[in-house]
Amino acid sequence: MSVTTPINPQQAIISVHEKSMQITEAFQQLSTAASWQKGTLELTCLRVVQETDDVKTFVFQSTPQTRFHFKPGQFVTLQLEIEGENVYRTYTISSSPSKPYTLELTIKKVEGGQVSGWLLENLKPGHKVKAEGPGGEFNIIDHPAKKVLFLSAGCGITPMMSMSRWLRDTVADVDIHFIHSARTSYDIIFRHELDKTAQRYDNFKLDYVLENIDGFLDAEKLQQLAPDMHDRTIFVCGPAPYMTAVEQMVADSGFDMSRYFQESFGGQLMPELDTEATAQAEGYQLTLEKSGKVATFDPGQSVLEALEQQKAPVIGACRAGVCGSCKVKISEGKVSSTSQMTLTPDEIAQGYVLSCCSTPQSDLNIDI
Ligand code: FES
Repeated sequence: MSVTTPINPQQAIISVHEKSMQITEAFQQLSTAASWQKGTLELTCLRVVQETDDVKTFVFQSTPQTRFHFKPGQFVTLQLEIEGENVYRTYTISSSPSKPYTLELTIKKVEGGQVSGWLLENLKPGHKVKAEGPGGEFNIIDHPAKKVLFLSAGCGITPMMSMSRWLRDTVADVDIHFIHSARTSYDIIFRHELDKTAQRYDNFKLDYVLENIDGFLDAEKLQQLAPDMHDRTIFVCGPAPYMTAVEQMVADSGFDMSRYFQESFGGQLMPELDTEATAQAEGYQLTLEKSGKVATFDPGQSVLEALEQQKAPVIGACRAGVCGSCKVKISEGKVSSTSQMTLTPDEIAQGYVLSCCSTPQSDLNIDI
């Protein structure tokens, strides 16, 4: 037998009144919230959404409340304390600035990835993290186009999702063809939303390439799926082997590569070092001028890795030559660098390098 507690009408009226006051207050706070365009923020995790077996979306709000203003496709750098150590990692924002009151990061647990594994297991609603940003040139605002082809694999879907959501929500007159590669249909992140968008919007064409059914994306499949790709601007994001293969097949097709943009995030990439230079790097001496520390480079070590080994104050957030957090000034010596992406001509002239993408070509003195 079930027992029903009678409702006290007076209490019910008060609680409805309280709720409507809360909604009004929240509305006032949000409508006067400052806009965040640059700098450090404290974010509070509001919700965690399990997207696939090894991918979660973390939904954040800032304190005080902020309207997140960024270019769709950009990233933020999280500062986390893991086992007493400060670590920094860069993650692409998967939400869109068209929904400015929350910021979403969609993170995949990377095999052996210390930070992604920690985040997926430990970051819960109510927890706070620091974020710095936004940054990144891989975005739809800096590379506008009337027709785009988004090619992504795995968690490389996050910047494409942010760009697609932005274009959809702002009713932009852009023809989008989105081709996403995943291991199986269960591994398609945001599948429900993508399918719905494709059903509802004529300017949004969607294809999946599933490894267990179709194999990997290759030149023939790309040509079949996107015969008009030469009319489009291409954005690519995914694990390193995927991006290398896609770049090769697109370049081989005679595509105008000035309309080709790629990004690599989510802890999926190791820094791309100059392999010849790396082979010669062993044994060079590293001198940290401010602390007076002296060390020797191990085989295959980047300048960033050698600095981290010496506990030097340097941040390696993306570790892929994109975010600029690992910038250091070489006072003496030569390096070979595979990226100078975020450095200005002035900084390069002064001797700054991105340490994650640099290997020594002589003994080095670093102003740190
Ligand atoms: S860590 Fe991001 S550019 Fe080096």
